[in-house]
Amino acid sequence: MSRLQPVYFALDFETGEEALSFLDLNQLNGIPVKVGMELFYKEGPTILSNLHERGHPIFLDLKLHDIPETVRRSMRNLAGLNVDVVNIHAQGGSEMIRAAKKGLQEGAVGKPPLLLAVTMLTSTDQSIMQEEMLLAHPLSNIVKHYSELAEQSGADGVVCSVEEAAVIKSTTSLLTLTPGIRLVGGETHDQKRVATPEQANQEGSDSIVVGRAIRDADHPRVIYETIKEAFTYGQTTIDS
Ligand code: C5P
Repeated sequence: MSRLQPVYFALDFETGEEALSFLDLNQLNGIPVKVGMELFYKEGPTILSNLHERGHPIFLDLKLHDIPETVRRSMRNLAGLNVDVVNIHAQGGSEMIRAAKKGLQEGAVGKPPLLLAVTMLTSTDQSIMQEEMLLAHPLSNIVKHYSELAEQSGADGVVCSVEEAAVIKSTTSLLTLTPGIRLVGGETHDQKRVATPEQANQEGSDSIVVGRAIRDADHPRVIYETIKEAFTYGQTTIDS
């Protein structure tokens, strides 16, 4: 049932023109891409049509989190946009997750997109949770709990950090998609729970998302291939 690709390149660019010319310039045509809020809010569904025409599998990362009825109706619209994967925040609760699933089924022409639930953002750590969100449980327990909730409510998978992937794989039948990926020695930026593509493979992630490590590289195509190989085989032979 999986339409989840092993590696998604996060198209975190200001405009569609910038994103498409980056893909052309670096011979990244047809690779699986993630379109997030920055690009979608600027370009709308047009960027999805452009990418679709160029053969890119698409993960539309809008992380919906609202009342169940709004999420159901929004997902009904997103289901018609020819994307493979969409997501919501698990923190929206079971009713909202079920509503998301229902909306996708109502709006899909063929097979509905896969529904992933974001557990806890990889830019959040235990101290942010405790001091700012007043969540006293250990982060790993919360992620496990949200994953179980997501599975029971009909999600196909979760977005989590590599640190949590193995536990989720052993306790649920969910797909796991993991952002926060960095090559050894790479800048972590705003991400708190980072891991290498090799670690993602070893922990049983089904899919990884990589943005800045590719976008800001001197040789993006080489880095993309290096990451893809490291994730697929758990090691790399390509010099980066
Ligand atoms: O540049 P970097 O590789 O950190 O980009 C990660 C991408 O994954 C960003 O587009 C971000 O929005 C997304 N993401 C994330 N954490 C999540 C879900 C999505 O970092 N839990």
